[in-house]
Amino acid sequence: MASLSIHYCILAFFCATLLIIPYTCLAKLPENHAALFIFGDSLFDAGNNNYINGPKTDFWPYGETFFKHPTGRVCNGRVVPDFIAEYANLPLIKPYLQPGFDNYTDGVNFASAGAGVLPETHPGTINLELQLSYFEEVEKKLKQQLGDTEAKKLLSKSVYLFSIGGNDYITITSSVNQSNVITSSYKKKYMTMVLGNFTTAIKKVYKMGGRKFGFQNLGPIGCMPATKASLGITSDCAHEPSVIAKMHNIALPKLLKKIQRQLPGFKHALYDYYTTLAERTLHSTKFGFKVGKSACCGSGTYNGEFTCGGKNGTVKYELCRNPSEYVWFDAAHPTESANRQLANLFWNGHPKITGPYSLKKLFDIL
Ligand SMILES: *[C@@H]1O[C@H](CO)[C@@H](O)[C@H](O)[C@H]1NC(C)=O
Ligand SMILES: *[C@@H]1O[C@H](CO)[C@@H](O)[C@H](O)[C@H]1NC(C)=O
Ligand SMILES: *[C@@H]1O[C@H](CO)[C@@H](O)[C@H](O)[C@H]1NC(C)=O
Ligand SMILES: *[C@@H]1O[C@H](CO)[C@@H](O)[C@H](O)[C@H]1NC(C)=O
Repeated sequence: MASLSIHYCILAFFCATLLIIPYTCLAKLPENHAALFIFGDSLFDAGNNNYINGPKTDFWPYGETFFKHPTGRVCNGRVVPDFIAEYANLPLIKPYLQPGFDNYTDGVNFASAGAGVLPETHPGTINLELQLSYFEEVEKKLKQQLGDTEAKKLLSKSVYLFSIGGNDYITITSSVNQSNVITSSYKKKYMTMVLGNFTTAIKKVYKMGGRKFGFQNLGPIGCMPATKASLGITSDCAHEPSVIAKMHNIALPKLLKKIQRQLPGFKHALYDYYTTLAERTLHSTKFGFKVGKSACCGSGTYNGEFTCGGKNGTVKYELCRNPSEYVWFDAAHPTESANRQLANLFWNGHPKITGPYSLKKLFDIL
């Protein structure tokens, strides 16, 4: 392999000398090598927020289970894209902002906890548009490293994962109560704006050569411990956030079919994260968990307050002994053991759960 690339370089050098063009020894990737590019929010963040002035989970007990130290992931261990990388035979995909990291041939993670599609959702986090501008930098770097042709080939074989939108809807539903409801026309207008900006992002990736996309739909934001605790809900799920998440999740497959008609070669896996996580929350024992409705780490009703880690020793909080018995690690984020089940379904679930392609199929096709 090494001698092969030396030969390649000598040959390239020879040709370059003949043509009198500036010579650079371009790296060559294995045939059919695909990378994983990750966009999104806290469900996918692998540590970008450690390096910005945004919400952080760079403290114990985050990371306690797998990494044995906090990594910035909002979880006791690995998040969904970590498992996807493993299934695709890739190493763990690093956060874009990690100092010194600039070799993107296996992919890069742009996700940022708190981020939304819209820039006005949690300013200070890395919103989707900003994540896309980072991807443009990555594209430039790959072209320098591999040359235009090889970079283009890599980008078209790679898979682009998205988990985004939850925070946009949580910000508008978190203040909903009996005396303050969101009208259905406002919901519709807001959703159109979120999906409009989301479409722009997808088309940008396509324009830069991306063809294989994986989307997880919006989670059951009404059934999370955080939502139920803050709205004082004792039923299974809060109504308004559930309505708006379902609305988005009904519109999303229609939008993706439309994009598929517009963009030749666009292929996607849409994973029903909502249903599969809601089932685990409401019927936890059926899926091997002991607790579905309360979080492992936090305080208050359902451990639904974001105090996991104790705010640097200033607040008391509960921490369960065995997170693998829980669906939720903190008030809004699944445990590593839940993430593993969810990632399995995204990777190769029944076509009713992940379709029209599974992520495995997207990696398998050339
Ligand atoms: C970049 O990473 C790939 C895959 O890990 C490796 O084969 C390659 O040598 C690296 N390139 C540089 C310039 O470090
Ligand atoms: C409902 O929410 C609004 C806006 O957040 C707040 O001003 C009001 O006090 C809340 N009402 C009740 C009954 O909680
Ligand atoms: C994107 O979101 C902004 C608000 O941040 C909105 O004004 C704009 O219309 C949206 N764009 C599309 C294409 O929907
Ligand atoms: C957390 O507490 C430690 C010591 O108790 C202190 O040195 C550190 O500055 C604190 N960090 C923050 C972010 O408050």
